[in-house]
Amino acid sequence: MSSGWNWFIVIITLFNIAAVWWLLRHYAKRRKAASKDSSDTTGHVWDGDLCEYNNPLPRWWMVLFFITVIFALIYLALYPGLGRFVGLYKWDQESQYENEVEQMEARYADIYNRFNKLDVAALAQDDEAMKTGHRLYVNNCATCHGSDARGAPGFPNLRDSEWLYGGTPEAIRQSITNGRTGIMTAWGAILGEDGIKSVVAYVQQMSGQSVDSELAAAGQKQFATYCFACHGADGKGNPLFGAPDLTNDIWLYGGSTEAITETVVNGRNGKMPAHKDLLNSDKIHVLTAYIYSLSHQSAGQ
Ligand code: HEC
Ligand code: HEC
Repeated sequence: MSSGWNWFIVIITLFNIAAVWWLLRHYAKRRKAASKDSSDTTGHVWDGDLCEYNNPLPRWWMVLFFITVIFALIYLALYPGLGRFVGLYKWDQESQYENEVEQMEARYADIYNRFNKLDVAALAQDDEAMKTGHRLYVNNCATCHGSDARGAPGFPNLRDSEWLYGGTPEAIRQSITNGRTGIMTAWGAILGEDGIKSVVAYVQQMSGQSVDSELAAAGQKQFATYCFACHGADGKGNPLFGAPDLTNDIWLYGGSTEAITETVVNGRNGKMPAHKDLLNSDKIHVLTAYIYSLSHQSAGQ
């Protein structure tokens, strides 16, 4: 704010307050004059002889008005409001916010210190920690993984024992801290229509669905050529790439012919955002234990 605007605002504000004061004084004087002449009316007449008296405001009401003006002056002296003048209290919202955050952190430091002394498996048994973990989960993760953590197509279920990247405390911590990117390349152009049909049939056969066995046999050859590098020769997946196990009936994107065809033809690219800049390591520690507890049902909630 340039100093011209600063003075512009200061002058307008003070001028307004002075004008209000003057107006109030003016009416207070009229009041004395008016009380001498009680026949003063507004000049409006209804029903022949009904007129409205032009009485001044009651005294207590005027006094309230004067008090508000005095309040405004005191307020503007203490708090920011007059242009760039910061006020005698030197209050500002940033330091108030920082103070509050500091107080909160000090309050929670003891709690998190206790949590940090426990390893993930032990923390997953701690009721208080799991309540905190649940709150952190709802605020940060539920939009994608669902409020019950059972996921949605493209967003993995975190309650089952199927993991793209592994369900050990280290793997979960890594997923949350640095995020994950699953890259399933598109195969439509390489495999052609027949190739796609057969490899889809083979994937369905691996997961236990009944399919045309000749088609699946042809698909097996394609799989051994193009897919095993990531999904493994046995189709059980590879946590290094986040390639899912294709031999069970648990699906990230769906196990119908249409869903698998879509996956294979156009590829998939699931992204788990990194949370290291959003959550500090104390919170990630508690969240790791919370996620761990979900699939280790003997522990936590
Ligand atoms: C470069 C490694 C790589 C190759 C090669 C690869 N995939 Fe994948 N595949 C992945 C990854 C990673 C995912 C998980 C994608 C995600 O997380 O978004 C995936 C997902 C899938 C899914 C979805 C599974 C589900 O649960 O919904 C199917 C089906 C699949 N792949 C089949 C194939 C077939 C068939 C081939 C061979 C034609 C193949 N993949 C080749 C890495 C690969
Ligand atoms: C913007 C959506 C989004 C948010 C928010 C999100 N995730 Fe994810 N998360 C994903 C996706 C998508 C994947 C799967 C990545 C892939 O396909 O490779 C994933 C994967 C994971 C995995 C690995 C699962 C496995 O099977 O290995 C874990 C663990 C996880 N998320 C936990 C969390 C936690 C805890 C939070 C909250 C701090 C969170 N996620 C927030 C989208 C999200």
